Amino acid sequence: VPENLDLVKEIQKLKKEKNAIILAHYYQSKEIQDLSDFLGDSLQLARAAEKTEADMIVFCGVHFMAETAKILNPTKKVVLPDLHAGCSLADNCSGDGLRKMKEEHPSAIVVSYINCDIGVKAESDIIVTSSNAESIIKSLPENQKIIFAPDRNLGRYINQVTGRNMILWDGACIIHEAFSAERIAKQMLENPGAKLIAHPEAQKNVLALADYIGSTARLLDYVVNNESQKFIVATEEGILHEMHKRAPHKELIPALIQDETCNCSECFYMKMNTLEKLYLCMKYELPEILLDENMRVKALKSINKMLELSV
Ligand code: 13P
Repeated sequence: VPENLDLVKEIQKLKKEKNAIILAHYYQSKEIQDLSDFLGDSLQLARAAEKTEADMIVFCGVHFMAETAKILNPTKKVVLPDLHAGCSLADNCSGDGLRKMKEEHPSAIVVSYINCDIGVKAESDIIVTSSNAESIIKSLPENQKIIFAPDRNLGRYINQVTGRNMILWDGACIIHEAFSAERIAKQMLENPGAKLIAHPEAQKNVLALADYIGSTARLLDYVVNNESQKFIVATEEGILHEMHKRAPHKELIPALIQDETCNCSECFYMKMNTLEKLYLCMKYELPEILLDENMRVKALKSINKMLELSV
């Protein structure tokens, strides 16, 4: 890429030329969030991908998100600036592994968090995101045996709020697991009146301290609508950009992680997408998400079930 190229201008030009839409997750860099046509949480992004009429979906997020977009809207070209932008949760669980777990619990249905690959989605009955997991689980018959994969923290939290006893796959997000309850408790003491808000992928001891728990979009709404002026935010720091924009006078403090040399939590996978890679991926329409049609159709069933069940 020539050094003097105005990447923002070029990306905007390519967007028009190619009738492309840029979908971005809140954990992307500020520059990418600002350039996006649609910014949202996992559920909102899936819905936006499903209904877009653009010819090319440029997905600024991680691999499973772009893959979900392609599953939902297969006639569109879906590109991801960096194909290596993965997810520790998705890496933790495979379709084969889940099939074995199903064999051990033949009467159970499988509910999987959207942070998983197409193989896991194909083995699942229903997909959920952090914004609809609670209501979807509550809508299932009380005596229904459920396997929940791959996030044990979200699963444990849903078990707690619904009174269910789902069988949990033992996976976690390495970024959210790094939050330190001890250091956060100290931050709360140092900032009286501040509300602690947390993503349900955080560990039990962090969630136990939280005033509010929700998906990225819900955390954002909470900051905008809650009367408090100060928030300690226990999720990936990218969300702070949109929070600052939507609630410019409120004070936002990134929750601390166990590593004492860091003062915020950053997902290196999410940050693998850069403006330069975004420009190149739009110019060359690569790397592209391509799927096996059989798998796609199987995975689509579980995603559609989620869309049906979420209000
Ligand atoms: P949300 O649906 O809350 O945006 O989840 C994003 C995510 O992947 C958390 O790690």
